[in-house]
Amino acid sequence: MTAEELLKHAIKARDNAVATFSRFKVGAALLTSDGKIYTGCNVENATYGLTVCAERVALWKALSEGERSFVRMAIASGSELPAAPCGACRQLLWEFCGDLEIFLGNPSGVKESHHLAALFPRPFDQSSL
Ligand code: THU
Repeated sequence: MTAEELLKHAIKARDNAVATFSRFKVGAALLTSDGKIYTGCNVENATYGLTVCAERVALWKALSEGERSFVRMAIASGSELPAAPCGACRQLLWEFCGDLEIFLGNPSGVKESHHLAALFPRPFDQSSL
């Protein structure tokens, strides 16, 4: 599964976003080493603070199904410059997925490829303990 194909899954997952308060919809698709895809969207609620990002929803779905090995994540947002994962998601993606490819895009066709090690340098993780 190419990054471009994975992005299509993220764009589709974005349709399910519960972005009641920000109206900022995000979709994510996480590819496992054996080719499975776990998608997620952001889910907001009235407290605001309990909002969960699309990336974390996809990650929790995959981990809770027993997945432990990942290749890349595609993330779709509607902004002209595609949104990159927030700091909290970078921490969790680093801890559970390592140096994942992060493919960002929007439905208008703007695309960017990054690696998590570049987006999240000098992390605190298990090796720090
Ligand atoms: N959001 C994500 O789901 N992922 C990101 O990478 C950035 C932000 C969500 C959280 C919130 O529901 C909305 O976008 C605005 O911050």
